[in-house]
Amino acid sequence: MHNSQEFDLLITGGSVIDGSKAPRFRADIGVRNGRIAAIGDLSHCQAAQRIEASGKIVAPGFIDSHTHDDQAVLSQSDMSFKISQGVTTVITGNCGISIAPLRAGTPLPAPLSLLEDTDETRFETFRSYLDALRARPSAVNVAAMVGHSTLRVMTMDSLEREARPDEIRAMNALLDEALEAGAIGISTGTYYPPAAHASTQEVIDVCRPITGTGALYVTHMRDEADKSMESLEESFLIGRELDSPVVISHHKLQRAHNFGKSSQTLARIRHAMQCQCVALDCYPYNASSTMLHRDPKRLGGRILISSSKPHPEQAGRDLDAIAADWGVTKEEAAARLQPASAIYFGMDEGDVRNILSFDETMIGSDGIPTGEKPHPRLWGTFPRILGHYSRDLGLFDLEVAVWKMTGLTARNFKLDGRGTLEIGHHADIVVFDAATVRDTASYEAPAAPAEGIDAVIVNGVLTWRLGQHMGARAGKVITRHGAGKGRD
Ligand code: ZN
Ligand code: CU
Repeated sequence: MHNSQEFDLLITGGSVIDGSKAPRFRADIGVRNGRIAAIGDLSHCQAAQRIEASGKIVAPGFIDSHTHDDQAVLSQSDMSFKISQGVTTVITGNCGISIAPLRAGTPLPAPLSLLEDTDETRFETFRSYLDALRARPSAVNVAAMVGHSTLRVMTMDSLEREARPDEIRAMNALLDEALEAGAIGISTGTYYPPAAHASTQEVIDVCRPITGTGALYVTHMRDEADKSMESLEESFLIGRELDSPVVISHHKLQRAHNFGKSSQTLARIRHAMQCQCVALDCYPYNASSTMLHRDPKRLGGRILISSSKPHPEQAGRDLDAIAADWGVTKEEAAARLQPASAIYFGMDEGDVRNILSFDETMIGSDGIPTGEKPHPRLWGTFPRILGHYSRDLGLFDLEVAVWKMTGLTARNFKLDGRGTLEIGHHADIVVFDAATVRDTASYEAPAAPAEGIDAVIVNGVLTWRLGQHMGARAGKVITRHGAGKGRD
């Protein structure tokens, strides 16, 4: 009955995992004008372009719930490190850090400095950032958040204290502008020095404009080690005060004496979910990565240097080995390497698996797209879930794995028309081989594309095919539903 139909693109013969957690089914998918136009037996239909997917899985393009790609989507617009994994949408502005709004010339304290891979790309308004992305699209869709630490840097003369009422009003105005322009939420990172002095009340007062807008409150919690239970309570309280959904970013338990505590934190999260809107994400590795800390209390355990401005040659080496070479203490070596970023081996694999298999956990890479030796999560997160954790370890079914990176994420972040394969939805699609898909990125060689990702389609445009970037930049800016009432 579809014989007369013409499609721009037809994917034939694959098994469809539609992103809703439903069991896979055999179907062809027809794409027209950037949307999914038909699902079913379309083998006799005409199409400008065909992808043969027999024996392969056809799934919604993956949504990376936690990224720091704010600048990369402009300066590395091919986004190969994400597209090669099957990622078609990234959520930016996490951990309190966003590239907008920031004034030219404002010095950026760590970890904000991790965002920039080129000098001085600054946007004084959130709208000007989104407009730049519309003018020069990237290969992936972008849904952007504004960061509380960024707002502090924009409005406060000292970050070593709580914000004053006039500064909170200034941050409110910047947040209003971002929300009006289409920001989907605000993130905080009270774990980090630029926001560590912000009280719970400051966070509530600064974030107040999101109340009633549907925007999210997303948090890198104040503490993910000894005080993780208290930090969860703080996050839930802020969500209740704001009457807004809370996303607990990259949930983890750090330091050996906290290993195993994920059973408690997950029970608490599940309980909170009964009373308020709570979501969480996780990356599939037992090492974290962020700025190289100065605080000696944060320099325990094995630390691998990923980048160093003054000593790029030390990237990929252990801090202990560098300190020994230089004949100095670890603290002194860390000071000499600044500004720098590092990988911290401070988590328990059992906790990682426990959190990943929690039914409500989304997959987010937390990849940092700068530096010489980035954490392998930047290139490996999604195929590692599909290959290592789902297929090889059997942690969950492939349908569940796909849901955790598509339908669940679209629901939590309210990304209308994406995350599931349905007629009328945007044609963000990945074709992969369930038998061979795997991550190849390692701590030693982190910039390595996945195996087994056959085709990646963004808004109907074939962007990755059999290990090759096709050059397309078909990504769109996804704005919050209802943003900019009068406009657009
Ligand atoms: Zn974070
Ligand atoms: Cu992060």
